[in-house]
Amino acid sequence: MSEKNFKRTLVTTALPYANGPVHIGHLAGVYVPADIYTRYLRLKGQDVIMIGGSDEHGVPITIKAKNEGITPQDVVDRYHGIIKKSFEEFGITFDIYSRTTSETHYEMASEFFRNLYDKGEFIEKTSEQYYDEQAKQFLADRYIIGTCPHCKNDRAYGDQCEACGTSLNATDLINPRSAISGNTPVLRETKHWYLPLDKHEAFLREWILEDHKEWKPNVYGQCKSWLDMGLQPRAVSRDLDWGVPVPVEGAEGKVLYVWFDAPIGYISNTKELLPDTWETYWKDPETKLVHFIGKDNIVFHCIVFPAMLKAEGSYILPENVPSNEFLNLEGDKISTSRNWAVWLHEYLQEFPGKQDVLRYVLTANAPETKDNDFTWKDFQARNNNELVAILGNFINRAMVLTFKYFEGKVPARGELTEYDLATMAEFANVKQALENNLEHYRFRDALKEAMNLARIGNKYLADTEPWKLAKTDMPRVATIMNLSLQIAANLAIAFEPFLPFSAAKLRGFLGMEVCDWTQLGSVDILAADTQLQEATLLFEKIEDSVVEAQIQKLLDTKKANELNAWSPKPASDNIEFEDFMKLDIRVGTILEAELVPKTSKLMKLKVDTGIDQRTVVSGIAEHFKPEDVIGQQVSILVNLAPKKLRGIESQGMILMAEDADGKLRFVQPNEPVRPGSEVR
Ligand code: 2FM
Ligand code: ZN
Repeated sequence: MSEKNFKRTLVTTALPYANGPVHIGHLAGVYVPADIYTRYLRLKGQDVIMIGGSDEHGVPITIKAKNEGITPQDVVDRYHGIIKKSFEEFGITFDIYSRTTSETHYEMASEFFRNLYDKGEFIEKTSEQYYDEQAKQFLADRYIIGTCPHCKNDRAYGDQCEACGTSLNATDLINPRSAISGNTPVLRETKHWYLPLDKHEAFLREWILEDHKEWKPNVYGQCKSWLDMGLQPRAVSRDLDWGVPVPVEGAEGKVLYVWFDAPIGYISNTKELLPDTWETYWKDPETKLVHFIGKDNIVFHCIVFPAMLKAEGSYILPENVPSNEFLNLEGDKISTSRNWAVWLHEYLQEFPGKQDVLRYVLTANAPETKDNDFTWKDFQARNNNELVAILGNFINRAMVLTFKYFEGKVPARGELTEYDLATMAEFANVKQALENNLEHYRFRDALKEAMNLARIGNKYLADTEPWKLAKTDMPRVATIMNLSLQIAANLAIAFEPFLPFSAAKLRGFLGMEVCDWTQLGSVDILAADTQLQEATLLFEKIEDSVVEAQIQKLLDTKKANELNAWSPKPASDNIEFEDFMKLDIRVGTILEAELVPKTSKLMKLKVDTGIDQRTVVSGIAEHFKPEDVIGQQVSILVNLAPKKLRGIESQGMILMAEDADGKLRFVQPNEPVRPGSEVR
């Protein structure tokens, strides 16, 4: 357990896969907290760098390329640009945002592997893996499709069944087939290099479970359960033609496993940023290394990468890995393949200039200790009830009143009352409270402290009512407005790490040239007579119609997903021809139709069956209006035993086809035929 003093901080942020754009889950889980932390350290004048980049290897990228008929390089070129731009637009202040296809990275990753290889830190193992004889390649788990042994879903992947969620081995699949050729793959021997994690287990146990008890419970707990299960050697190479080639003889057609090369990307990108001094950040024990990641990355950053660094020998290990849990969207897991996400580039088109609103909501509702849900209603409520009604309202009132009574100049303070002093005491320790939370990666709590300052400001104005004193006691009004503006200046500093765009705007209103963190808590930030700038609104109300449109967009996505996932039900067991012939189906014409009172589904029909005119009660009322069905020809089962439905005797059944979306359609002749014609 350490509260060590470090000379510098190296912040890394998980490298997102460049196989799609980034969404709110990425921002909430990793990039906003990392940015808050880094901005805070910079404000304090500390030596800190924040490293980011795209993870451009791995099987999903090759699958996407194949599906689109382009190269993996085309895929990553497209998304690297989109991702980088989104981060810039959201004010995520990387010192470098590079990529794992850079030359520096290829060199660094090969050298790292080679180094461990030369030191004998790997074991070589031959195992049997699926091979596609037609495509002439080994198949990564995602390239093998078959029937899940648990739920019989016949589109399960070699690593997981997405229908029942079970993790699988490719050899568990029933009737495996290659996603490339569709053929049945064969098992073939292949050699790979393994990192013997078991060899590092004792060290890892001590280092995490004893020396880092201060890690967040979600991180510590996950590490403990991995360690308690016992570590196994992990393959660090793959048979694939996309990635960093394994730099040893006899490894043709093999590349480094993406999870081996990606974390080395942090090192490569640091080297690209600081070609001469990068090693100070990675090798000097006075550097504090902090990995910001999401929970699915914990094992790689707390166990696998530290084992690699330790095996290499010259690197430091992370001091902390403040991983977040997941952010869900309107109750469902965010998913790129199901398009269940709020994409950052789309948000910016639909909410231009509102980056800080999203940064605020994602921090206030960050999944710091458990999975959390993003909902558009909560987004609207936090914007309207917190940003607009508390922060924006206070700033607006302070500015407007200063222009009204003092022509926009900061008035000098007179004597302070007990109430003024009590108010000052309330926020005197805001710096300490913010720091304590920020240093311990509690960004939600830190944000609450900042917001509390705006609440104090609002209460102060509401209680002192300067507008009532303006006629009788201008010196008192001057004091009140001076103190209010000092609170506004405090807000401009306190919110800088969280809402950088709004904080900069606010400093502009207040004529603050610098943002000096050490001034937090002070009431002497703005000198008397400072000329304020005309203010605009910091935040605007978001109307119901705007969030309803976003909710509708998600409902449309859900519907489209359901349709895509639909497949016809398998055929029922065979019946004999004689059994079929027992069904007497005729064409009839609907003569009359009316809704059955007090039900939503039933319609009472009079049908001309050619044989007779009879009453049929049919469950079609949610799909048709009575006036639309009159005159329609339908197929009707005429020898079904009559049955009473809602007190009406139904004599037969109208045959309907049910579409994938649940809509009903009549099964009817393509041209009119005489009622009574047989259907066979
Ligand atoms: O989970 C992911 O999106 C990975 N691409 C994260 C990699 S983090 C690091 F190791 F680069
Ligand atoms: Zn299954």
